[in-house]
Amino acid sequence: MNRSLRLGVNIDHVATIRNARGGRHPDPVRAASLAADSGADGITAHLREDRRHISDEDIDRLMDAINLPLNLEMAATPEMVEIALRHKPHAACIVPERREERTTEGGLDVVGNKAGLSPLVGALGAAGIRVSLFIEPDLHQIDAARAVGARVVELHTGAYCDAAFGPRREQELARVVVAARHAEAIGLECHAGHGLSYDTVLPIAEIATIVELNIGHFLIGEAIFIGLEDSIRQMRQLMTQARA
Ligand code: PXP
Repeated sequence: MNRSLRLGVNIDHVATIRNARGGRHPDPVRAASLAADSGADGITAHLREDRRHISDEDIDRLMDAINLPLNLEMAATPEMVEIALRHKPHAACIVPERREERTTEGGLDVVGNKAGLSPLVGALGAAGIRVSLFIEPDLHQIDAARAVGARVVELHTGAYCDAAFGPRREQELARVVVAARHAEAIGLECHAGHGLSYDTVLPIAEIATIVELNIGHFLIGEAIFIGLEDSIRQMRQLMTQARA
């Protein structure tokens, strides 16, 4: 079966550049609108507890201005749950968050935090928000994600992308393949993301049991050289090629 593969464009780092000067340019909402015109199927934005990139106002404006589904990445905190329930985005992706980290390093420990996550996943799900959990490609974490009521898992591809080309990367890819198969086998929708670039996306996009990729940092960085539209279009093309 040749399932389609959705592209969620993560616009966080447009806000990172804006915030370096504290003004309004470049505007992540404008980037989201351009992404919609360039082949994105969804917009992803991470409202971090420290608000280092996306702001509360950005989320307000994205909800108003963008026709694509919004995937709100958020930590498992009461503040973030309240914000998600107020906005009711199409989807929420629960991610681990540490203030001192540069980016989301590693996946959520669902196995060790079932009791904390269950009510939160339940509350978001009851509000009609599709909940995914951002986890390492680990079968125990996937089983735990289903046990706490998530409908979707997003597999962290950071270790695969960071591994040197060769056997190490093949080994990390194999973990993602096995995990994606397992997720589907137990009835979960499977997404993937983190660190993906033109050089690393093809083998991940070829995994038929993955239906969505969320990609940000590389696309925004590449936009400096070739523009955001082309940066996204080329990624979209590689994803389509992988599924052909
Ligand atoms: N998916 C999740 C859950 C993330 O936290 C991130 C990073 O914010 C991404 C995807 C995108 O990663 P990158 O910016 O490295 O493409």
